[in-house]
Amino acid sequence: MRVIKSPEHLSEALSRFRKRGKQVGFVPTMGYLHEGHLFLVRRARKENDIVVVSIFVNPTQFGPHEDFKRYPRDLKRDRKLLRRDHVDYLFLPSRSSIYPKYFNDVVDPGPLARYLCGPKRPGHFRGVATVVKRLFRIVHPDRAYFGEKDYQQSRMIEALVQRFRMPIKVRTCPIVREKDGLAMSSRNRYLSRRERISARSLYQSLLQAKKLIRAGERDVSVIKKMARSVLLPYLSKIDYIELVDPDQLTPLRKVQSRVLIAIACYVGSTRLIDNILVKV
Ligand code: PAF
Repeated sequence: MRVIKSPEHLSEALSRFRKRGKQVGFVPTMGYLHEGHLFLVRRARKENDIVVVSIFVNPTQFGPHEDFKRYPRDLKRDRKLLRRDHVDYLFLPSRSSIYPKYFNDVVDPGPLARYLCGPKRPGHFRGVATVVKRLFRIVHPDRAYFGEKDYQQSRMIEALVQRFRMPIKVRTCPIVREKDGLAMSSRNRYLSRRERISARSLYQSLLQAKKLIRAGERDVSVIKKMARSVLLPYLSKIDYIELVDPDQLTPLRKVQSRVLIAIACYVGSTRLIDNILVKV
């Protein structure tokens, strides 16, 4: 695995492969890798000749009171994991190489950022859209891999790729869960032992909501009320429980043939998200 810090060097190295007809798969991350990330890496390995992983904790996607500074980092461990999974290039850009002095390509995340986490984390999706476009312009991947835990992010990136007519296939991979159902996330590491137990309630409430739909309930307010009642004993704050159209992310009042149930809430001071797609 080659570790490259300079965008120019990475672009140069990859363009040599592209000229020889090789396909490039790209997994952008913020590091502190877990099995969810490694699932994306392995999928990229299967589908491409060259696999590139980036680690960059992107400051522009964190709000002023969010956890940018304390976001977990362990580069030594990440490198080991990526080497074990036969990654070809690890891209470790500096902040100034991603955002040079006169950088002005701030990207509007589009209408999909109006829902779910968008209003709760102002500026977050603009930061994600901006960094992802910048990374795509450096790597020019054939395929890019994202996790379904960040469902809204993936949808927003699919739309971004279409809007800028980038010849990139966005692959969204299933959520990888711990044995008790908690969706894997770098932020799980903030949880105390007690909080870790409480955090199970996210997936439990999604499963209960799904069960209620399968039993024939179609009224979204009834389903939300039930999901809330599963969460409330365990959580300090619920940001939202929403049932939305899986494509447009618009809130639903009645369950349709496909519905995304999405939750964001705080366990202690840690904000967690999770979701489930239900087809009826
Ligand atoms: O999902 C993430 O880890 C980040 O939002 C991403 C896509 C790497 C952009 O910083």
